[in-house]
Amino acid sequence: MTQNNHPSPFAARITGTGSAFPKRIVTNNDLSKTLDTSDEWIRERTGIRERRISKVGDPAEQNSSLALIAARNALEMAGKAPDDIDQIIYATVSPDTLVPPTSCWLQYKLGASRSSALDVNAACSGFLNCLATADQYIRSGQIKTSLVVGAEVLSAITNWEDRSTAILFGDAAGAVIVERTEPDNPRRILSSHLGADGNLWELFQLPAGGSNMEVTPERHAQKLDKMQMKGKEIFKIAVKTLADYANTALQANGMKIEDVDWFIPHQANLRIIEAVAKRLDFPMEKVLINLDRYGNTSSASVPTMMDEAVRDGRIKPGQVLLLDVFGAGLTFASVLMRY
Ligand code: UT7
Repeated sequence: MTQNNHPSPFAARITGTGSAFPKRIVTNNDLSKTLDTSDEWIRERTGIRERRISKVGDPAEQNSSLALIAARNALEMAGKAPDDIDQIIYATVSPDTLVPPTSCWLQYKLGASRSSALDVNAACSGFLNCLATADQYIRSGQIKTSLVVGAEVLSAITNWEDRSTAILFGDAAGAVIVERTEPDNPRRILSSHLGADGNLWELFQLPAGGSNMEVTPERHAQKLDKMQMKGKEIFKIAVKTLADYANTALQANGMKIEDVDWFIPHQANLRIIEAVAKRLDFPMEKVLINLDRYGNTSSASVPTMMDEAVRDGRIKPGQVLLLDVFGAGLTFASVLMRY
């Protein structure tokens, strides 16, 4: 596990948040028309009621187009212009194109001409890996302003004939502006902890499409170019690691669970979140949840949740936020901050 909370002449803080979703709402009942499933099963086993799905071929609902709206909203909140951005770091597993990077599509659409652009694939842990990277660049003094994005069009890599995965995922984009601040500003990113266990690669994979296995008509027909998951195994590991990474973040900052105002976990399954809250002895009233309306949006789940709660006033300046995720790889991360 990498721990990032060493002393530095600068600190970083989030000054703007934004999010965007496709227009089309797909309910559990809609899915039950083509899959052997039911609204009751999906709600009881996952907590998901509906999700947003991008319209295939609509340029306004591509990954980088959703990210563009989220980024503009975040910039507006921060009072910044595209030219103020030094760096775009973009978490996604469902890029517009493998080459060029989706961060470059966003840079082009946004007109952020001064910015560098980097895509990061750490699956559902991608956004927190990007946030930790932005924090490090800012604290090293190299840059002042970073645009950090978590955006997904998972519908493009979902096997719509597999009821064990198709019911879970949705499309969305979240973005934050991270800016340099004084090291003694209480409102800053306090720590980040990142980790992975590649031994567990088989639990969640998309076999075809990389250089290991090219997509052929046969492999496409076998859905080898879509996500495959061993959900039950991931579930158990997720509960344990989310609790561990939360505790590690608290210990590193000399804090207790009572010091946290809002817990923002990866939005994969309500039962996972409830089990983690129980392990941490943390009240569910202080856990932020949007998966009921959007499903699992991978790297977009934490930034979209954060944006919603900032905009509706639940998250207030100075509050302590604990962000905590897991994903394919497997990958894990937690970030503690005073907003
Ligand atoms: O981004 C992070 C990556 N992934 C995750 O976080 C996933 C973590 N895992 C999960 O969320 C859960 O394991 C699932 C929601 C995927 C599955 O829930 P579960 O309670 O672990 O169900 P299960 O896989 O043990 O399946 C129970 C039963 C099975 O039937 P039998 O063998 O008991 O007859 C499944 O075939 O439910 C069946 N089933 C379904 N039934 C109706 C599986 N999917 C469905 C479905 N509708 N959509």
